[in-house]
Amino acid sequence: MATFGNGRRVAIVAGVRTPFAKAGTAFKSISAIELGKLCVAELLQRTNLDGKEVQALVFGTVVPSVVEPNIAREVSLLPLLPKGVQAYTVSRACASANQAITDAADQIALGHLDVAIAGGSESLSNIPILHSQRFAETLVLASKAKSLPARIRILARLRPRDFIPITPAIAEPTTGETMGQSAEKMAKLNAISREEQDHFALRSHRLASAGTADGRLTAEIMPVYVPPKFESVLTSDNGIREDTSYEQLAALKPVFDRKYGSVTAGNSSPLTDGGACVLLMNEEKAKALGYPTLGIIRSYAYAALDPGEQLLQAPVLAAPVALKRAGLTLKDIDLVEMHEAFAAQVLSNLKGFESKWWAGSIAIGHPFGATGARITTTLLNELRRRDGRFGLMTVCTAGGMGFAMVVERTR
Ligand SMILES: CC(C)(COP(=O)(O)OP(=O)(O)OC[C@H]1O[C@@H](n2cnc3c(N)ncnc32)[C@H](O)[C@@H]1OP(=O)(O)O)[C@@H](O)C(=O)NCCC(=O)NCCS
Repeated sequence: MATFGNGRRVAIVAGVRTPFAKAGTAFKSISAIELGKLCVAELLQRTNLDGKEVQALVFGTVVPSVVEPNIAREVSLLPLLPKGVQAYTVSRACASANQAITDAADQIALGHLDVAIAGGSESLSNIPILHSQRFAETLVLASKAKSLPARIRILARLRPRDFIPITPAIAEPTTGETMGQSAEKMAKLNAISREEQDHFALRSHRLASAGTADGRLTAEIMPVYVPPKFESVLTSDNGIREDTSYEQLAALKPVFDRKYGSVTAGNSSPLTDGGACVLLMNEEKAKALGYPTLGIIRSYAYAALDPGEQLLQAPVLAAPVALKRAGLTLKDIDLVEMHEAFAAQVLSNLKGFESKWWAGSIAIGHPFGATGARITTTLLNELRRRDGRFGLMTVCTAGGMGFAMVVERTR
């Protein structure tokens, strides 16, 4: 059996996240950088790790701030870490935190690092609002005008339509297709019925509610005081509906194909704010520092397909490669954690491989940049509870890409 790292095994020591909040709710005035700082500070405090031990911080985000684009560096400048911690930001759509984790793991395997923090955060409440090209060009011209009357003459050319902001869409630049439209297409191509999608969404909410009630999910979540008054505190994901029913889900109207569609607000993951991160160490370093580990990374793989085909189907290509690299087959896997962008996508992916899997993003939420770190922590913790050995996680992403990672629980 192969293990990633050529002898320098990469261990996941701990993971933590903020609660995930539906965009426009509890975290609407917290930036992605702040969400990142909150969870990294919590990770250091929970593990009682001296910030001086951390050598690098790798963070993912999908919609970065235009004024603070290197989110990783801003997060690394929190007071608990020395200013010498090197930090960089990665982007691989919904697998951005996975990219952060595998980048840090690669550096540990190479011997360049012993201790790193990796994760991601996203604030979909705070996405940049764009102006039209004409509006931007006119502003630039006006800023170069030599006199006030000249500036006013240039600005007077603006028409009301030039002020209409451009809302960034979650759409493929190459095809113009939104994620939701892609999920619709996949449902049709793979014959996934509306009923199956709603049953799957119900399952997601039921499992996430149970995991919240019995503390399995909340153990991974830090409490966050809600600005601006900081009088209330969010301790769990606010998109989980413990009272949702199949009938309620079945009554929702399709969003992305109103006439013939089956993808609804209920069977899609919601737009979400949140941050998540994990602590990675070379296994020997963890032993030297006296840290027990959750598990080691056995292998990982990325894959991509034509975004014009089935956009969210690439996990089916990535998983066999990750399994082969680990020297395992799906039969050896005790638990699978799949990112749920849409029920239609999960059910389409599952047609590609049968598995034993657990709850996810439809109920819990999906802050794009953070999800990969959430599922890494959840998979390892649940693997321990079930006394399993091998876990597989998969993530589908924009651009027709997919990610898979095999982890092995350490005892
Ligand atoms: C699908 C989407 C457009 C829905 O957005 P929205 O309309 O703001 O969603 P809401 O949460 O307001 O839900 C709409 C309605 O459905 C209801 N609803 C949603 N989930 C429900 C559930 N599980 N049970 C019962 N009702 C539910 C809401 O209560 C709301 O009802 P109301 O209109 O009476 O208030 C949005 O979540 C989205 O774009 N998701 C996809 C994100 C994406 O593309 N991710 C990328 C994946 S990789």
